[in-house]
Amino acid sequence: MITKIFYYSGTGNSLSVARKIAVGLETAELVSIPKVINEDINTEADAVGFVFPVYGWGLPQIVKDFIDRLSLSQVQYIFAVVTCAGTQGGTLIQLKKILQSKKCDLHAGFSVKENSYSPMKQVPIEKFVIWLNRKSRPLPIEDRLPEILSTIKQRHLHEPEIGSSFAAWLGTTILHDSVLQELRKYGKDFYVDNKCNHCGTCVKVCPRKNIQKENDSIIWKGNCELCFACLNWCPQKAIWLKDELLPQRRSHHPEIKISDIINE
Ligand SMILES: Cc1cc2nc3c(=O)[nH]c(=O)nc-3n(C[C@H](O)[C@H](O)[C@H](O)COP(=O)(O)O)c2cc1C
Ligand code: SF4
Ligand code: SF4
Repeated sequence: MITKIFYYSGTGNSLSVARKIAVGLETAELVSIPKVINEDINTEADAVGFVFPVYGWGLPQIVKDFIDRLSLSQVQYIFAVVTCAGTQGGTLIQLKKILQSKKCDLHAGFSVKENSYSPMKQVPIEKFVIWLNRKSRPLPIEDRLPEILSTIKQRHLHEPEIGSSFAAWLGTTILHDSVLQELRKYGKDFYVDNKCNHCGTCVKVCPRKNIQKENDSIIWKGNCELCFACLNWCPQKAIWLKDELLPQRRSHHPEIKISDIINE
């Protein structure tokens, strides 16, 4: 039985979860989505998993783009685990619909909460969706791992976990597309200070090849996924976002190293 786990991770949370699942399943192969985003993959695995963060109560664009190109016709069992700050929304329902449009299905969908830092200010509607979901926040992976592994190993069905259905409807069905569009504007707001030593790490961790190093300048182009990998992994803490919420704070998953995230 071959299981492939496709993961996408900016600050390491989803990679850490993907690794725990791969270790628990023993025979699973981990594949980084940004590394294979331009390849046409016809996966011959019996089971496929997706592990990625929730962005604006839905799928990150890079995950949507990847699944669009992925051929899953021979796969018998598909599962997903999404990581989030506490408001999973209808992300897994969105994924299920995408898979169904490809004549596949999502057989088991889990959401887990991870420590997260968002440098963006919350707007009132965002606070409202978070409030709606306050009693349905997912648990951390440590509390869910045995159940997740047992479900996947036995190829059991598990309804996509969405938390509050009103929050999922408002966040995902109504707001997700416009939120992602709005978020992309932040991609133009990065800048570096004089601590930058031109090490090139930001270029290497970017999942979208959106950063260019030209002589002594770091240039952000127009294709940002807003994963904040550049901001959080810069060894010099030299990258800033205009009007940042907590300008001194940088964070990534403690078990994940820069070399694990490099997307070259
Ligand atoms: C652009 C963006 C949008 C996000 N939207 C949500 C969200 O809608 N709900 C939520 O609970 N967390 C949200 N988060 C937090 C991430 O889902 C969370 O930090 C995730 O674990 C990050 O995974 P990673 O470390 O693998 O990149 C968002 C983070 C970013 C960067
Ligand atoms: S990672 Fe930081 S220090 Fe290195 S080139 Fe990028 S901005 Fe400069
Ligand atoms: S530019 Fe920075 S925030 Fe945007 S996709 Fe690349 S690493 Fe992520």
